[in-house]
Formats: sequence, structure tokens, C-alpha cells
Amino acid sequence: MTDTGSPRDLPRFPAHFRFGAATAAYQIEGAHDEDGRAPSIWDTYCRTPGKVEGGATGDTACDHYHRYREDIALLRELGVDSYRFSVAWPRVRPGGDGEVNKAGLDFYDRLTDLLLEAGITPCATLYHWDLPQALEDRGGWRIRETAELFAEYTAVVAGRLGDRVGRWMTLNEPFCSAFLGYARGRHAPGAREGRGALAAAHHLLVGHGLAVRALREAGAREVGITLNPELLVPESDTSADRAAVRRAKTVHNDIWLDPLFAGRYPRYERETWGELAADPAWRLDGDLELIGQPLDFAGVNYYRPMTVRDVPHTEPDPAARTAVDIGAAELWREDVRRTTMGWPVVPEALGELLTGLTREYPSLPPLLITENGSSEADTVADDGSVHDADRVAYLRDHLRVLADTIAAGVDVRGYFVWSLLDNFEWAFGYGRRFGIVRVDYDTLERTPKDSYHWYRSLIADHRARH
Ligand code: NOJ
Repeated sequence: MTDTGSPRDLPRFPAHFRFGAATAAYQIEGAHDEDGRAPSIWDTYCRTPGKVEGGATGDTACDHYHRYREDIALLRELGVDSYRFSVAWPRVRPGGDGEVNKAGLDFYDRLTDLLLEAGITPCATLYHWDLPQALEDRGGWRIRETAELFAEYTAVVAGRLGDRVGRWMTLNEPFCSAFLGYARGRHAPGAREGRGALAAAHHLLVGHGLAVRALREAGAREVGITLNPELLVPESDTSADRAAVRRAKTVHNDIWLDPLFAGRYPRYERETWGELAADPAWRLDGDLELIGQPLDFAGVNYYRPMTVRDVPHTEPDPAARTAVDIGAAELWREDVRRTTMGWPVVPEALGELLTGLTREYPSLPPLLITENGSSEADTVADDGSVHDADRVAYLRDHLRVLADTIAAGVDVRGYFVWSLLDNFEWAFGYGRRFGIVRVDYDTLERTPKDSYHWYRSLIADHRARH
């Protein structure tokens, strides 16, 4: 058994702090061609040879689409207040526009009702990377029409679930959609472009703004967005590495946070992208007001800090550069323990990140940690139990830093562990396990790990105290 310490050692949180668990549709649902769901860009990407480790797909994933009752029972037993899931656009409006698919909406309707019956607040992410392929075929996030259709889809979902969903997150980590998807080719749709990626970034933000408007019109309760701002550290204290941090910060943080929370476009975009950023024809008058509408919370996904080194551009001809080519290498520290993602475990960096954000953006709304967790090499004991001591330590240490950061005055209202289940880790396939519940991908059996039991005692202890 993992030594999970005594309850007295558990981090303490304010009375109204909320605990949750998170997942995303394509990573857990499976049932890729059932009840009218059409392919998303991830279905296509997974079928492109060489893109995803082991040729894995989300066709079955954790089969949550059929096993959601069992998964909600796990959440109830865990004692969480909230569950963050995502709604799959290709289930609800499979062609991206046109017909709404009632069977798709019915699934989320049942899920929402069962969560409420279990005493759990449903928190819905509207876009966790699964763009209908039909829209990618028309230009995807490179074109503004996709943002408009995202708002239409949002209105459909809010019309059906708005009376019961407690919190809405418009987008999840738009950095990944825009730059991993359209610049670095490491996520669907696998493009490597310059202007396409910058246009995608802007259209994602416009989509967010239009979706916020649609949600407000539908009377939605709490509305926000989930970002993955990075704590970026120069590899050396040289002006070259500090400049590389400025460029990396523009891509990871400022391009999102500045329009959302400071009413401006990022300061160093010409320094970062040069000519690519020279004529942003995709920006229209009024967009900053649309994007910067007040939010009820900002979601932060945090896993690890990033080290940045200045490197020469890989493409010497500026005109031929893609948006990936910003002359900055992104590295992981090697002097601390690393997870199976290769990510360094640095809990204090979470505190630094949150404190830095509140300092840099005085009008930031209250924060929620919408994801935090670790992928580990779990082993199953002979009796079937999973002693994931490294994950327990990761969660404990990050939650402790979070509690201290709140005590120091940063307004964080809740925490969602990533993830309830082991699941499809995008380009890494099924080889990276983030779950507090193990999934056996042969039998689809679920086994709560020690981290699940630890998190359960943390929540129970918190409740008993308040
Ligand atoms: C962020 C993403 O939102 C989620 O889908 C992913 O699985 C985790 N990070 C872990 O990489």
C-alpha cells in the first residue's frame, strides 16, 4: 500500500473550495461511429500513419459512452463536488453545421441528469479539440466561419443543458488547437503553417467570444475558458535566452491572455513571428471587445514548468517560416523527478505561475485549476490493486502549494484532477496513464488506484472540517 500519510498532513482549503475530476470526450468516450456521430479531425489524424503512437485511435477508448453509469458511480464514491467533461461537437452537430443530432444531445442530457442525481455539478467544456472533419475540409479554424458555427453549436448545447450545467468552459487549451494543430503538426489536423496557425489562434478566440455571448443569452450560470499558460524559465541568464522566453511567452500565454484579460493584442508578436504577423487580416474591428467580455472564472491547466533556450531558426528564409519556428527550444528540466511524459515535477512552479498571472493581469477573474495530474508507470499488484505512490506524491505536493498560494491571497476556487480515468493521451496513444482509476484496455475494467483513495480522503477530510 502506498503510504499516503495521515489526514492531518493533508493540505487545507477554504470552506467553499470545490474538488473535481476531469476528462474529455475523444479521450474516453469511444463509440466513434454510433448514434450519428461523424468523424472529427482526431479520427482522421489517428488514421494517418505515423501520427499517433502505436497507431492508436479513440474508436473505443474507455468506452465511456456505454459505461458512463459506472463512471458516475466512481465519481460519486470519490466524493467530488464537480465533474468536468467535454461535449463532442461531432456528436451534437456532426456536419459542423446543418442538422442537429438528437441522439448525440441525448447522451449529454442523460449524463448531466445522472451527475445531478449523484450530487455532482456538471461542468461542460464545449471544445476539447474534436472539430468536425467536415469543417476542417472547409478551412477549419483558419477561417472565421468556424468560429461562427462554434457559437451556433454552443447555443444548441446550452439550449438543451443550460438549465442544469453549473459551469461552462468554451475552449480547452486553445494553444494546442492553434499551434500544435496548425503549426507544429503534432495534433490534429497536423498542419505546419505560418499564417494559418496565427489565423486559427485568432478565430479560436473569436469563437470563444461568440460562444460566451450565446451562453449568456441562454442564461448559462458560470462561464469561462480553460487555458494552459506556461511558467517559462530561461535556460541561462543571457539576453538571448531571455528574448527566447519572450517569444515563447507570446505563443503560449500572451496571445491568449492579453486579448482575454487586458483588451490588447500581444506586445511582442512582430518580434516572435516577424513578417507572419505583419498583416493580421483576420482581425476585425470590435474583436477585442468580443473576446474580452467579462468571465466568471479563468481555468488554468498546470502540469510542469518549461525551460526555454534560444536556438537559430530552422528555416533561414523568413518568408518560408511556419509559426512553429520562433527560434526557441522548449526543454524539460532534468534535475528533478520526471513523469512518463518526461515532464519535470516542480510543484512550487504552480504557485509562481498563479501569482505571476494575478500580478500581470489585475482584472483576471477568480481562477479554477481545471487540470492537474501526472502520468506514471503504474504497476498492478497480484491482488489487482494499483499502488501509484508517485502520483499520490505529485497530487499531494501540488495541492499543498495550491493551498499555500490561496492562503497568500490568490483567488482560486476549485481544483480538478486530470484525470478520472486512464485514457487516450492524444499523439501518445494509450501508453501514458494519467488516471486515478486504472483502465484495463483489454477488458475495459476500472480499478481505483491508491491516488483515488487518497483524493477521496482529502475531500472527505475537507468536508468534515467545514
Ligand atoms: C491537457 C489536455 O487538456 C488533456 O486533454 C491532456 O490529456 C492533458 N493535458 C495531459 O497531457
